[in-house]
Amino acid sequence: MHPDIPYVVNTASQNLQSPLASSFCSSQNAFYGAILQFKFPSCDLMKATLKYLAGIAGPSGYGSKTTAEQVTQVCSVSFTSQLTAIITGATSGIGAETARVLAKRGVRLVIPARDLKKAAILKEAIKKQSPWADIILLEIDLSSFASIQRFCAQFLSLGLPLHILINNAGKFSQKLEFSEDKFELSFATNYLGHFLLTEMLLDKMAETAEQTGIEGRIVNVSSVVHNWVKRDKFCFSQMLNPKNYNGTRAYAQSKLANILHAKELSRQLKARNANVAINAVHPGIVKTGITRDHKGFITDSLYFMASKLLKSTSQGSASTFYVALNPQTRGVNGKYFADCNECHCSALANDEIEAHKLWKHTRALIHRRSFPGITIFS
Ligand SMILES: NC(=O)c1ccc[n+]([C@@H]2O[C@H](COP(=O)([O-])OP(=O)(O)OC[C@H]3O[C@@H](n4cnc5c(N)ncnc54)[C@H](OP(=O)(O)O)[C@@H]3O)[C@@H](O)[C@H]2O)c1
Repeated sequence: MHPDIPYVVNTASQNLQSPLASSFCSSQNAFYGAILQFKFPSCDLMKATLKYLAGIAGPSGYGSKTTAEQVTQVCSVSFTSQLTAIITGATSGIGAETARVLAKRGVRLVIPARDLKKAAILKEAIKKQSPWADIILLEIDLSSFASIQRFCAQFLSLGLPLHILINNAGKFSQKLEFSEDKFELSFATNYLGHFLLTEMLLDKMAETAEQTGIEGRIVNVSSVVHNWVKRDKFCFSQMLNPKNYNGTRAYAQSKLANILHAKELSRQLKARNANVAINAVHPGIVKTGITRDHKGFITDSLYFMASKLLKSTSQGSASTFYVALNPQTRGVNGKYFADCNECHCSALANDEIEAHKLWKHTRALIHRRSFPGITIFS
């Protein structure tokens, strides 16, 4: 669960003033915010919104209405059927659709899930459509370091290659809750968990890329809400254990951390000459359970208008596929995408010093927990 819709509701006026507001990739959020605030959008914003509504393609040739199936049409089965991918958060929403299309394209799937019954239902549904699908289910709770370690040990013991890692799982905690390791739950799940998972699988990805000559690709699923995090509120110790908790802020901070993680790690991967790339994406505002849950905020007719701006899960997973599989993004590293096009992220998300600082703090935290076998680049 995540607050992308309520966040747009709460901060609509900030959103309209942001530099991203009139851009191709954020017109959906800005226009949606304008509707919810009963404001009439500006001319530029209207133009951008009409472009968005019409699904006019950006420079990549894809746009807001592009689906996962369309982005992956250009990938040959002889290529995709060689690949192995791990995708977190595949038991619902955008992740479930990502898993379905990956399997349809012949990619071997490893699905880490905290609810294995839910994962088994998903596997059955995928198998009905793609009987050839090779799907392995393993347990993980991304909010627990110990659980991530167990998952990685199990996965690595299978001796499989790893070409694609999709860090998609997302948690929004309205009230202040703590993980097993005693860190704020949204930050622990969305950022710390994916950071550790990535670190523990990185050597395997680099090794696979070297052996197969196929570039490894990591996708961090972030959100446009990263854009509203203020610099003075982005303090590591406060994010681990906040004094004044605000669920939306905690979620947005974790999504900013996802981008900073991608930026810093991409620099380290380049320096190491590893044939592995990491990028971040904003999926768009997608019709998942959360958006329907918040229908009560507005009237039916306003919801009808606003819902025209929401994406389907297939459209919402398209950017992930553009980054994970499409030949156009080969060699692209450390970038941020929305609507299958490279896009601007906030100044804070682009701050290299901030990214390195966050990475160092996270590494120190993980070292304090002393993980044997974890390789972290220095
Ligand atoms: N939907 C949007 O409008 C939107 C907008 C911007 C960004 N995003 C991002 O897109 C991603 C997918 O979101 P969604 O809309 O598809 O959300 P969703 O339907 O709520 O799915 C979230 C997934 O994450 C899993 N998850 C949560 N906590 C976990 C944990 N501790 N360990 C393992 N798995 C955990 C959930 O597993 P369970 O099934 O066990 O709960 C579920 O599979 C998230 O990163 C979200 O932040 C979404």
